[in-house]
Amino acid sequence: MPSATALAHSNIALVKYWGKADRLRNLPAVSSLSLTLDGLATRTTVAFDEGLATDELWLNGQRQQGRPLQRASRLLDTVRGWAGSSSCAHIRSTNDFPTASGLASSASGFAALAAASCAAAGLHVEAPRVSALARAASASAARSIHPGFVLLPRGAEAAEPWAAADHWPVRLLIAVTDRGPKSVGSTEGMQRCEETSPYYSAWVEGAEALYERAKAAVRQRDLEALGDAMEQSTLRMHAAMHAAVPPVFYWLPATIAVLRRVWELRAQGTLAYATMDAGPHVKVLVSPADADIVYRALNELPGVSEVLVNSPGPGCQLTDGGVE
Ligand code: DP6
Repeated sequence: MPSATALAHSNIALVKYWGKADRLRNLPAVSSLSLTLDGLATRTTVAFDEGLATDELWLNGQRQQGRPLQRASRLLDTVRGWAGSSSCAHIRSTNDFPTASGLASSASGFAALAAASCAAAGLHVEAPRVSALARAASASAARSIHPGFVLLPRGAEAAEPWAAADHWPVRLLIAVTDRGPKSVGSTEGMQRCEETSPYYSAWVEGAEALYERAKAAVRQRDLEALGDAMEQSTLRMHAAMHAAVPPVFYWLPATIAVLRRVWELRAQGTLAYATMDAGPHVKVLVSPADADIVYRALNELPGVSEVLVNSPGPGCQLTDGGVE
């Protein structure tokens, strides 16, 4: 039974992807720049087994059906096509972070699945193709193939590395907020914005300039410039979400409390910048020297259940070697 295991870490977009240029192929409408983390990892083992009648997906020990299984099977179908095989697979995936926290795991999950399934099928697939395979399942997953600072340009098939993990030792603090009602998934939220938000086109038009500013800021290790582009990207994206009908609204009282605290800290001279994704948690970018003070300030806010501290992390690895 040919099997392989891959380990991938989550990534957080500093400049966001939100919207599709091609829905069927899942190509992004705007360019994004992300940071792959050294925490929030998913380990996935894929084993092809001719005796199985269907693919089986186990996530943190629980058998999955419905949409999660369909998305995984679609990715496997592509790999089976490349390998000329019709074997079903047994997929076992575990996250090293609490799944109950509501933190997105599709980026690390589909990156690990893409790498492990190619290897289990006996294919020698290079990183851009593994990234494209992950992107077709979930575009943000394309970026978790690479370490450090990563680009996913508008309309691109695959993500590409921009700066290594050791290029700039920033810290990204994740303020995990109490969970609210079940929120809208990214794919559905994007579609609703594209179809109903009067601000969606303005978001798309302005996104490239922020992306270019962020790319330059990473190269120059300029925290103020990167933080500024990052906050504008997140607030414009959320403004487009809020104007959708019905609104795509992820914020909780604690989300706003963290945002305000970050802005207060900045007014007092600490360079801290916030970003939010399709959920209520807030991620805060700081220099290593300020990580402790910001950690303590966020940890004591009501509605913040924990603060996870991350550094730039590695790309997706097969457990017996890297993704080439
Ligand atoms: C707000 O990659 O989850 O986190 O491609 O439809 O699976 P699909 O969407 P997904 O979207 C992530 C959106 C975001 C911003 C980002 O990560 O760039």
